[in-house]
Amino acid sequence: MEAFRKDFPTIRNSLGIYMDSACESLNPDCVIDAMVRYYTEYPACGGRSVHSMATKVSMAIDESREKVAEFFGCDDPNCFAFTKNCTEGMNIVARGFGLKRGDIVLTTDVEHNSNHVQWIEMAEQVGIKRRYCRTSEKGVFDIEEFKRTISKDVKLVSVGHTSNVTGCTVPLKEIVEISHDLGIPVLADGAQAAPHMKVDLKDLDVDFYCASLHKMLAPKGVGMFYGKMDMLKNLRPLIGGGGIVGLTTYDSIKLSPPPERFEAGLSNYSGIVAVKPALEYLERVGMDNIHNHEKVLQRAMQKVTEDIKGLSIVGPEDPDLRGGVFSFNIEGLNSHDIAMMLDNMGGVMIRSGMHCAHPFFVSRKIDGSARASLYLYNNLKEVERFGELLAKISEMFAK
Ligand SMILES: Cc1ncc(COP(=O)(O)O)c(C=O)c1O
Repeated sequence: MEAFRKDFPTIRNSLGIYMDSACESLNPDCVIDAMVRYYTEYPACGGRSVHSMATKVSMAIDESREKVAEFFGCDDPNCFAFTKNCTEGMNIVARGFGLKRGDIVLTTDVEHNSNHVQWIEMAEQVGIKRRYCRTSEKGVFDIEEFKRTISKDVKLVSVGHTSNVTGCTVPLKEIVEISHDLGIPVLADGAQAAPHMKVDLKDLDVDFYCASLHKMLAPKGVGMFYGKMDMLKNLRPLIGGGGIVGLTTYDSIKLSPPPERFEAGLSNYSGIVAVKPALEYLERVGMDNIHNHEKVLQRAMQKVTEDIKGLSIVGPEDPDLRGGVFSFNIEGLNSHDIAMMLDNMGGVMIRSGMHCAHPFFVSRKIDGSARASLYLYNNLKEVERFGELLAKISEMFAK
């Protein structure tokens, strides 16, 4: 894995130790080059004008869409729409699914706001109901509890595949099987799963899946949203406008087929065309290699922090259950102060606060956490440096 580090300009130029990949990943040269090529060689729109530059854009978008489909194990690229992020996809499903007053949406109690805020809004605006599958105090999902919580009258199951706070991954395939047995479709928030493991949508049989391509080496402001074609055909678009319709008259519209109907207006073309090299890069590294590499780093994280005074882990103690996420607190210290000190003292960049998962923290009476999140380009030396700095911070300031 060490060899890949040279492909990332911020690493090559020693601009600090980046441990905030659960927020945004770094970008390798091939992705940056693809964006620069777009702006210098064919900076036009896609899917509209017929001149040569625009045709090149349209073809490049098609290629990116085909790559996304192949990457996620799906035969039909038209099942994938490009969005600006994972949140947009989650909202497209929530708003377009046709939920009515009294309909129940089942989630877990550790969801990111991208799988929470819209349901609360729709409870207020439409009158839908929300049901929560409770996880353990540490946020670990229990399939038996899920079986107890689900019932035939649930209209949609919507779960985070991997938590951005605890790093825990839910058994999505089993969740889908149980839900489908009751005739209930499943939406999954794959923002933290898709960057770190092989996600085969055909095998999972999930009905809708959203991900942040910008957490998968692709440029900022690009996400994707997948749906089974028969589901997409019944989904109303979230945003109306150009590009999503065939013929419109003064009093009628005819929606374009998926995926165009979900991509209103001009898009982030430089970002979308660079999705292909990003996913090709991940394929070269190998998703299984990434998964195993993060396991090694996570175990090392456990080792370098186990003797640190006052440190508690938010999430499971078993490092193998935490993916690339290490959330923690140090007694007597605010998480933002920990993050600032790590950066100021040693250039280690992590995240702090409630990570857009406020209900989890509030229900556990925790003020927030510091969170180091790892990816393919982090190495053991960086983890050791993180541990040394944290030990120093704890010695100086912890209660
Ligand atoms: C679990 C989870 N879901 C959704 C999101 C939102 O992703 P995006 O910013 O691409 O909308 C995040 C971002 O951190 C996340 O961790």
